[in-house]
Amino acid sequence: MMSESLADRIIIPEALVEALRHAEHVAVLTGAGISAESGVPTFREAQKGLWAQYNPEDLATQEAFERDPRRVWEWYAWRRKLIARAEPNPGHLALAQIEERVPRFSLITQNIDELHFRAGCKETIELHGSIGRSRCLSCDEVTREWVEGDETPPRCPNCGGMLRPDVVWFGEALPFDALARAVAAAHDADLFFSVGTSGVVYPAAALPLEAIEYGATAVEINPEETPATVMMDFVLKGPAGRVLPQLVAAAWPEQAAPQQ
Ligand code: OAD
Repeated sequence: MMSESLADRIIIPEALVEALRHAEHVAVLTGAGISAESGVPTFREAQKGLWAQYNPEDLATQEAFERDPRRVWEWYAWRRKLIARAEPNPGHLALAQIEERVPRFSLITQNIDELHFRAGCKETIELHGSIGRSRCLSCDEVTREWVEGDETPPRCPNCGGMLRPDVVWFGEALPFDALARAVAAAHDADLFFSVGTSGVVYPAAALPLEAIEYGATAVEINPEETPATVMMDFVLKGPAGRVLPQLVAAAWPEQAAPQQ
């Protein structure tokens, strides 16, 4: 019988190892799948995904918030608590290591959980905002500090207006600056990773295709196939928390921690 660690080993193509070692600019797009091993639920997976249990139209649109701000706020408060208990996993940590080892690195995420930041990534392009911040509907001030208490949603510490989560809801535009930086990174990167995303929500889903069009080598890391799989140069089928550390160890064996 194979030992568990051998059975878990993903075959990392030598050509990909070489591409990573020699890349000038590595760009990575992440989705909910990178945080799955931290215990943060994904959206579209059958049964366990959030959108299998909740209707996004009731919870993640401006209309839903106007209709029932308390319900929407409380759903995000529940998710905020869940995320606060989560820790970055080996996939997040491996990406932070890649950032340290390549000349240029761009991390683009659709996640609102700030786990890349907590894993040590220096700069993350947040396409869908962050659950750690709220924004005032009256004065537009973005804040990380508010008091949960008498009123739900709570009030802006600056002007007393109603706060909303500083996240992008369905039907809303992405933050202009973040999207522009993400597109520029996709165009400039010579190696582009798509990690843990189903690739069905635009404009984020277009980034791997933009990168390929501009000449990047494209890699997908996901246990499942996605609409983008057929366009990839390399497909590493498996959980990011296992694949990414093995990729880093293969690319920089001299810096790998000794095996226990
Ligand atoms: P999805 O839930 O659509 O997709 C998660 C992907 O992660 C799937 O393709 C899974 O196969 C994959 N996956 C699961 N476990 C994994 C693991 N351990 N390692 C790697 N991959 C794994 O989530 P997103 O693609 O992030 O937007 O969804 C995009 C956007 O749709 C979200 O940002 C959110 C959602 O509605 C808004 O709320 C605006």
